[in-house]
Amino acid sequence: MKNYKTIVLANQEITSGTFRMRILTPGFAGTVTPGQFVMLRPALALPTLLRRPFGIFRVGCLPAECDGLPAREYLEILYKVVGEGTRILSELHQGDRVELLGPLGKGFDLGVPGREKILVGGGIGLVPLFMLGEALISRGDRVRLLMGGRGRDDILAVTEFERSGVETYVSTDDGTLGEEGFVTRVLERKLGKYPEAEVFACGPMPMLSAVEKICRGRGVPLQVSLEAHMACGVGACLGCVVKGVGHSETRPRYLCTCKAGPVFDSSDLDWGKAAVSKGSCAEGGCK
Ligand SMILES: Cc1cc2nc3c(=O)[nH]c(=O)nc-3n(C[C@H](O)[C@H](O)[C@H](O)COP(=O)(O)OP(=O)(O)OC[C@H]3O[C@@H](n4cnc5c(N)ncnc54)[C@H](O)[C@@H]3O)c2cc1C
Ligand code: FES
Repeated sequence: MKNYKTIVLANQEITSGTFRMRILTPGFAGTVTPGQFVMLRPALALPTLLRRPFGIFRVGCLPAECDGLPAREYLEILYKVVGEGTRILSELHQGDRVELLGPLGKGFDLGVPGREKILVGGGIGLVPLFMLGEALISRGDRVRLLMGGRGRDDILAVTEFERSGVETYVSTDDGTLGEEGFVTRVLERKLGKYPEAEVFACGPMPMLSAVEKICRGRGVPLQVSLEAHMACGVGACLGCVVKGVGHSETRPRYLCTCKAGPVFDSSDLDWGKAAVSKGSCAEGGCK
């Protein structure tokens, strides 16, 4: 993990309220695994503005240019403007300074080589699945992405997944793009066809909960990437805990999303009544 004081290379609105930011990060690409995240803030923001967590969409390198510019390594994030922190980020331009901590957390286990892989992305939750798809494709696995959103504006980067060799299926709740209905319906159909598949999911909690139920019912291995609220991102504030399997009032078992995750094997989590309800660190036991 490294603390980068660096600059924005590009920051562009790609669909209404969703931005793609490219950040200069020399030496970063070789240290990151799919599913890890970064903590980011504008360098000139008030010191009270905490860094915000974002999944790493992709890493790459701009080639050296004939006008003398050297090769530049970068990472890209895709983010939705939901509050003050992301609004401030959306107003940054090329050359603006940012502070970035990363790569952080535990990413995806690539699973059994050669077994069918199904990625399930809900809205902005597709972000950590792109590097995962690339890694699986490059070792020869067959990868399908089931991409769900409320409407067409929530469907992102499908062409990039396809270009990398991932077969994609789109569904929207309102039918404005792809099949009409929840992405979980597509998942049930695909698992009927590929019962030996392994599933990897990231998206809103109700979607993850439904995916977990489907996979558990069929005995299908599932890894989920959680997007709990985070303050520090490094295990210091204990503000991101979720309940682990076996948790009880008398024997609390909490897991920090930022250190034990954000990617978890679904069998390690307590999917009880409130489906991965947040715990309180005051009860202790956070790992
Ligand atoms: C590991 C991880 C990876 C993430 N990756 C991405 C990503 O790739 N792209 C992206 O757009 N967002 C991602 N998020 C969520 C992102 O961090 C939040 O949207 C951001 O922190 C909101 O900051 P804000 O100041 O704009 O909003 P705030 O003012 O903090 O909150 C505004 C609203 O957003 C809600 N909110 C805040 N944080 C989250 C969260 N973590 N999950 C769900 N709702 C939240 C609040 O409850 C509130 O309703 C990720 C979160 C985590 C933990
Ligand atoms: S965000 Fe502080 S411990 Fe996880």
